[in-house]
Amino acid sequence: MQGDFFKATTGDSPQERAAWLRQELNRHNYAYYTLDNPTIPDTEYDRLFRELQDIEAAHPELVMPDSPTHRVGSVSSTQFAPVTHSVPMLSLQNGLAEEEVAAFDSRVRELLGHDSIEYEAELKFDGLAVSLRYEDGILVQAATRGDGFIGEDVTANIRTIRSIPLALLPGQRPHVVDVRGEVLMFKPDFDRLNEAQQASDQKEFINPRNAAAGSLRQKDPAVTAGRKLHFFAYGIGTLEGMTMPQTQAAMLDWLEKAGLPVCPERKVVRGLDGLLAFFRVIEGRRDSLPYEIDGLVYKVNSLKEQEQLGFVSRAPRFAIAHKFPAQEALTRVLDIDVQVGRTGALTPVARLEPVFVGGANVTNATLHNEDEVHRKDIRVGDTVIVRRAGDVIPEVVANVPERRPDGTVIFHLPAACPVCGSPVIRPEGETIARCSGGWVRCPAQKKTGLQHFASRKAMNIDGLGEQLIEQLVDKGMVNTAADLYTLPLADFAGLDRMAEKSAQNLVQALDISKKTTLPRFLYALGIRHVGESTARALAQHFGSIDSLADATEEQLLEVADVGPVVAASIKTFFADAESRNLIARLRENGVTWAEQAVQTKEEGSLLHKTFVLTGTLDSLTREEAAEKIEALGGKVTGSVSTKTSYLIAGKNPGSKLRRAEQLGITILDEKNFCELINHEKSH
Ligand code: IVH
Repeated sequence: MQGDFFKATTGDSPQERAAWLRQELNRHNYAYYTLDNPTIPDTEYDRLFRELQDIEAAHPELVMPDSPTHRVGSVSSTQFAPVTHSVPMLSLQNGLAEEEVAAFDSRVRELLGHDSIEYEAELKFDGLAVSLRYEDGILVQAATRGDGFIGEDVTANIRTIRSIPLALLPGQRPHVVDVRGEVLMFKPDFDRLNEAQQASDQKEFINPRNAAAGSLRQKDPAVTAGRKLHFFAYGIGTLEGMTMPQTQAAMLDWLEKAGLPVCPERKVVRGLDGLLAFFRVIEGRRDSLPYEIDGLVYKVNSLKEQEQLGFVSRAPRFAIAHKFPAQEALTRVLDIDVQVGRTGALTPVARLEPVFVGGANVTNATLHNEDEVHRKDIRVGDTVIVRRAGDVIPEVVANVPERRPDGTVIFHLPAACPVCGSPVIRPEGETIARCSGGWVRCPAQKKTGLQHFASRKAMNIDGLGEQLIEQLVDKGMVNTAADLYTLPLADFAGLDRMAEKSAQNLVQALDISKKTTLPRFLYALGIRHVGESTARALAQHFGSIDSLADATEEQLLEVADVGPVVAASIKTFFADAESRNLIARLRENGVTWAEQAVQTKEEGSLLHKTFVLTGTLDSLTREEAAEKIEALGGKVTGSVSTKTSYLIAGKNPGSKLRRAEQLGITILDEKNFCELINHEKSH
């Protein structure tokens, strides 16, 4: 496992281990702070750091003056002038589990001698700490945290950040104030930056925090100006010429009043219960925040009580960081497999030494395509950073070059499909290589094609899952989707793990699925680039499969959302005799749908109206709601913007509801929505 893997590289007496840890940590500090080129994820650094702390606690004789546990960060590079912080910028103790937060709370209660502590809970922004000095309201200097005592002068770069005021608002200008806060890059800006880096063949950033750090520590402020950075203030260092507010909450209110950006996600709570309740709220909203956070920070609200509690070595006793499970971790690439998808696309997938990350055990991570593997230079045997954030599929972010063993080889996709042996084709200028076997020759494409056909939003065949399809294809019982409808009950009952009753249910589900709708049928066919909403648009425009099959490219292009690529793909599909044959056989076998009224662009009472759905509805699924809206000419999109006409909010709505409220968009509940649809239908 991971720990052993690292231990194997070092001696195992506490003395040797401590020496090795010191050396490692110092090296990573140097790479991080001085070279701007982090070599390991923060969590890995923290793990090593804690291990050294533990050894030093158990063996005080091993504590060395150069131990990284004795300083907050590391030496500054020589690129920027040093700045000595008026008040040191310390770090926070970390709580990784609720028990650690509980221990923090009981220590605070004990030291303050009363039981109901008022806390201010804030987000722990995953950016980099800076200190901004305002003299008589004017921004005169900005410095990074550096080692906590001495940072670097980044004034010129900080001045390019739009949300940082160059002057505080009139009436809020103390003689001197050091504003402490975090510089961040928002997720969409990070994605855009990396796209641009990729397009110009420059190194991509591992995560928004590294991008923010790299952007702030630029020699040329013009480069920083081109990177979109943000700032959130969370504290004050020195303050002269004004009385310090009495609580952390009042301090943040004042910062806001002075014109500084302060994050609105903060709350004054009471006791441990209050802290944990707020933690759960934020945890649930984490993925929908536009910036990255790695936990929450809890601070005793009263500044007087903060002072009473004081500090211990490098951290305050009045605050703690309650961290989320890490979203990045180190592991090793055991192998690189190649998967063949429904459209024949070949996807390299890294098989990983199991690692716990983002709250789950991860054993595989997609590598997307061959170019991506080369760009990141991922090889079998490499130690890599894996990322698993929210529900997003795990991803290999980067390799750790210095951990590469000897004898690794550059990865190449095979020339023949690993499943059917047909030649792999990668047209000039395309990133995706495909198996040329098609679903006729390639079982992998056949299987994934059938899975798609049976899926909920397509033919919705209940009980026909991956494993059954696997057997049906491998045993040669099913060659195309049409064969599904001709198999007798006895054939299903003979399959592995198929009891008589489930075979009956399956036959019944197949029977029910025969009565479908044209949009579902079109989607089920798995035409490349024809997703659910394009299928609906095509069905509405052409009204029948025959007129769609015979449509010219010009006619196809008349459909909203259909561009040349989609049109060409539809033409190719219907030009293929196999496809037409499949459709004919499905119809012969009883697949039907109600005729659909053709709707021209000018029609439909919800024309030009854009809807967003959130939460669950009682009387219909979200897909059904979308079908109804589109049948009346409306459009359904995934996210709320100023262009949204209505937000339909069901039970347990997500962050979309808040956003819609902020933008003043009309919000409909299920009842309002049904009334709207029925009203529009009758007109
Ligand atoms: S207060 C003495 N508040 O966390 C307490 N820090 O380990 C000083 N951070 O490098 C920190 N969000 O960059 C504080 N709301 C917040 C924070 C925050 C992020 C970072 C800060 C510092 C690290 C402390």
